[in-house]
Amino acid sequence: MTHPRTAICPGSFDPITVGHEEIIRRSLKFADRILVAVAHRATQAKQGMFSVEERIQMIREVFTDEPRVEAGDFTGLLVDFARDEGAHLIIRGLRAVSDFEYEFQMALMNRELCADLETVFLTPNVEHSFLSSSLVREVASLGGDVRPFVAPPVLERLRNRFATAGG
Ligand code: COA
Repeated sequence: MTHPRTAICPGSFDPITVGHEEIIRRSLKFADRILVAVAHRATQAKQGMFSVEERIQMIREVFTDEPRVEAGDFTGLLVDFARDEGAHLIIRGLRAVSDFEYEFQMALMNRELCADLETVFLTPNVEHSFLSSSLVREVASLGGDVRPFVAPPVLERLRNRFATAGG
């Protein structure tokens, strides 16, 4: 019997956007189970808007139709978390050349820390190549329409935060 192929898609997801969603759904072509892993703030320089619990909840709501996608959080090293989960793949999106250096460094460091772990890079749909969570937060906070950039459950949370997000 072959083992299910588990992939980890790590990030801050503050909040998850349609760009992330697209990458995760496309990864189901080669992974049996995808664990979307929200990194705790202690392991990140960025200060977030939504709590880690809210981010996980939003990811679960976005993927209610897809039992192969799970959401959770992790602290500490990604390689340790991946090992604990029996994952051999890390999935990252490469939106533009500007992402490359950082992603390349992380992939090499992760491989140095754990030789079994492969990082797979997917390119997003070109329409999503400019998208980032911080831009979505900024546009929503200033009353702009973010409906094209986030799924309905995320839009609802943003609307609750900022009364005018998306009209
Ligand atoms: N669509 C839309 N936005 C995307 C995207 C896509 N397909 N792919 C990336 N992004 C955006 C994110 O929204 C985020 O935007 P923001 O900066 O405006 O919030 C940005 O790209 C990059 O964020 P993300 O992909 O979430 O990565 P990160 O840099 O926040 O987190 C970790 C990187 C969590 C994977 C990394 O820090 C880590 O592994 N930490 C654990 C500790 C560890 O092991 N450290 C050693 C690593 S070698």
